[in-house]
Amino acid sequence: MAKLIIVTRDGTEKQVEGRSGWSVMENIRDNGVDELLALCGGCCSCATCHVHVDEEWVDALPPVGPDEDDLLDSSDHRQSNSRLSCQIQFSDALDGLRVRIAPED
Ligand code: FES
Repeated sequence: MAKLIIVTRDGTEKQVEGRSGWSVMENIRDNGVDELLALCGGCCSCATCHVHVDEEWVDALPPVGPDEDDLLDSSDHRQSNSRLSCQIQFSDALDGLRVRIAPED
């Protein structure tokens, strides 16, 4: 299985076995990280699953979609490496992906 590294808001790093075919958001929540609210359940309408992706991984991910882009614009914490974790499907190709949960808006 591929590894997913989650960094929480206090800087704690947690390495988990990621499930392929699940979104990064689902993998984070399934591993007991409850500070990622994901209020809309992954249908790209809340932005409470905002993460900052390690720079080395940014180009390996599919591009930001228009809805995701609009939602990220509503965040005060948007950066060039911002993504909505529900819009990233995890797979073995992302083995070692490291994401930090963005500050709450
Ligand atoms: S869970 Fe709502 S936008 Fe990702």
